[in-house]
Amino acid sequence: MKHFLHLKDYSADELRSILDRAAEIKKNPEKYGDILKNKTLVMLFQKSSTRTRLSFEAGMTQLGGHGIFVDQKTTQFSLTDFKDEIRAVMRFGDVLMFRALKFADVQTAALFNQIPVIDACSEKYHPCQAMGDLLTMAEHSGGLENVKKVVWLGIENNVSNTLKLVCAKLGIDIVLVAPKAHEVSVDNELNQMADATGKVHHTLDLAEAMKDADYVHTDTWMDMEFFKDGKVKPEFKVEYDKRIAMFKPYQLNASVVEMSGGRAKIMHCMPCHVGYEITRDVIDHPNSVIFDQAENRLHAQKAIILHLLGR
Ligand code: CP
Repeated sequence: MKHFLHLKDYSADELRSILDRAAEIKKNPEKYGDILKNKTLVMLFQKSSTRTRLSFEAGMTQLGGHGIFVDQKTTQFSLTDFKDEIRAVMRFGDVLMFRALKFADVQTAALFNQIPVIDACSEKYHPCQAMGDLLTMAEHSGGLENVKKVVWLGIENNVSNTLKLVCAKLGIDIVLVAPKAHEVSVDNELNQMADATGKVHHTLDLAEAMKDADYVHTDTWMDMEFFKDGKVKPEFKVEYDKRIAMFKPYQLNASVVEMSGGRAKIMHCMPCHVGYEITRDVIDHPNSVIFDQAENRLHAQKAIILHLLGR
């Protein structure tokens, strides 16, 4: 059974085929209005979300199916063995979308091979984001063959892991300007696989990285768990301050965009922490494709679900 987890097992052709389908669905949504009639996507969340929940739920509606939002906090997961509960949960759907605190739990669900499982952002991967990002870059460059150089700025994390891997698989050079990798996100096998393509580069020389860049991406330097009601939890304050000091020199701001000769398009998977990893003027910059990027989660994920269901 096919799952959508870390993408180490997806070929370049398979990724291209999903992206072509996503572009076609975006162009002709009416053709797909009942393709998933009577199909259910179970959407299990252990962490908060705006885009992932909305794009999957709206996507299922638009495909003629249904998405059920399951918040782990309001279910019986805390009372029992995860393995038992997830096996029961998967009896009610055709695909499981899982935003998990730990990838190990996503893998546990996938190993049962009951229904296809999608990692909807664990601490290690964010494959749906990577596909939405590729779709956005393809759109804004007139095809991925015209995307030559992508820059990742800030912290190496779950989002950069999958973006790096898919860019490398598709022959796009990706330069990581990141003083540190988030420890929990590190996957040595993925790193080796991406590095072996010769397409992954590391530097802290921002000007050199940005020269001739087609796209510059960034993401928050913080973890979702640091915040409650928009405020930093006291137990995370020291780590929060440490990260600001470490990553501030790699903030995505107007002067960084200028280093590309003003050509680099600006991407952020959102949510943005304005004034930290990205500045307001850059979010609203004419080169910003951030909101197209958010929308493209919808189109990319429709294609992913259809691919997993063999439709
Ligand atoms: N980029 C992303 O996954 O957004 P959410 O956390 O809002 O789902």
